[in-house]
Amino acid sequence: MAGNSFGQLFRITTFGESHGGAVGCVIDGCPPGISITEAEIQKELDRRKPGQSKITTPRKEADTIKILSGYFEGKTTGTPILLIAYNADVKSEDYLELKEAYRPSHADFTYEAKYGFRDWRGSGRASARETLARVAAGAIAQKYLKEKLGIEILSYIDQVGDIKAAVDFETVTPEAIESNIIRCPDQAAAEKMIALVEKVKSEGDSVGGVIQGVIRNVPPGLGEPVFDKLSADLGKGMLSINAVKGFEIGSGFAGVSGRGSEHNDPLEVRDGKIRTTKNDAGGTYGGISSGETIHFRVAFKPVSTIAKEQDTVTRDKRPTKLSAAGRHDPCVLPRAVPIVDAMSALVVMDHHLRHKAQNG
Ligand SMILES: Cc1cc2nc3c(=O)[nH]c(=O)nc-3n(C[C@H](O)[C@H](O)[C@H](O)COP(=O)(O)O)c2cc1C
Repeated sequence: MAGNSFGQLFRITTFGESHGGAVGCVIDGCPPGISITEAEIQKELDRRKPGQSKITTPRKEADTIKILSGYFEGKTTGTPILLIAYNADVKSEDYLELKEAYRPSHADFTYEAKYGFRDWRGSGRASARETLARVAAGAIAQKYLKEKLGIEILSYIDQVGDIKAAVDFETVTPEAIESNIIRCPDQAAAEKMIALVEKVKSEGDSVGGVIQGVIRNVPPGLGEPVFDKLSADLGKGMLSINAVKGFEIGSGFAGVSGRGSEHNDPLEVRDGKIRTTKNDAGGTYGGISSGETIHFRVAFKPVSTIAKEQDTVTRDKRPTKLSAAGRHDPCVLPRAVPIVDAMSALVVMDHHLRHKAQNG
């Protein structure tokens, strides 16, 4: 099957290219009766949209979401939901050069290797504009998870380049995340990160970083071993986001250097519930949620479309130089925070419905 759908019971299929007519998705399997407005979905999209601050691309796209089906009197009806945003600020001439020359480390060469030709305008389907649809669907899932189950989803910037934040993921609040333009709750680190992004931007270059994902109040028992472990599906969801190069849950790669006696999370009974006294596992054992906070890290590369001149080749295999025109993000991390939230919501929502379907 072509890979445009995600989830089993809460299933989204996204469609659209960056400079085509529209971007959107169909959600099939959404529970009926979720109260949601276009404005609530729009709030999440506005966190993702370009042109929101001096450190994001100046591209102006309204990203105005419309709910075209599966919705009546302010509520989801249980039938397929179509969410759509029509494309407006289309400047395809900025991409003319990319019709012939492949951008190093972008998807130009591989899309053409796969499909035989490609929509080169605005990176086509490989553009992160597609993630708008995930954020819209994720907003509906987040609303359900929060209101029905008390599950709270958030994420924030943990690192940009070599600058690391010091944040306690257990206590961080959405307000602290939104308190600055880079979405890092450590204010001192945030200032340094913003300065770094501005410097990199002035040099015509890009910089990567790490987003910390947090999911609180997930009940024990979600996850479908062996292939659809909660941790595995979170990994797939995150790795499907543009520019993501790494995913780790809990102690992740750093955990390998300690001993089992240090790494094990001791169990205890607290308020009548089985709990752990620490959470190096990241909130799952055997791919099933433990009831502790799920926490993971997602690595984003420095994105490839940069103004600095680079060596590349053309479609007809001639060596050439490329310095990209157009309006690109010097650091995609601040705009990727709502995308990480959306993928978390889609995974947990799907697993909640799957757990209910089998266990009742
Ligand atoms: C929010 C967001 C915005 C992005 N904006 C750009 C951009 O302006 N220029 C660019 O070259 N890549 C951008 N990317 C990354 C590309 O979409 C991605 O690198 C490309 O599709 C190749 O895929 P890969 O890096 O995952 O292999 C962005 C990614 C995200 C998450």
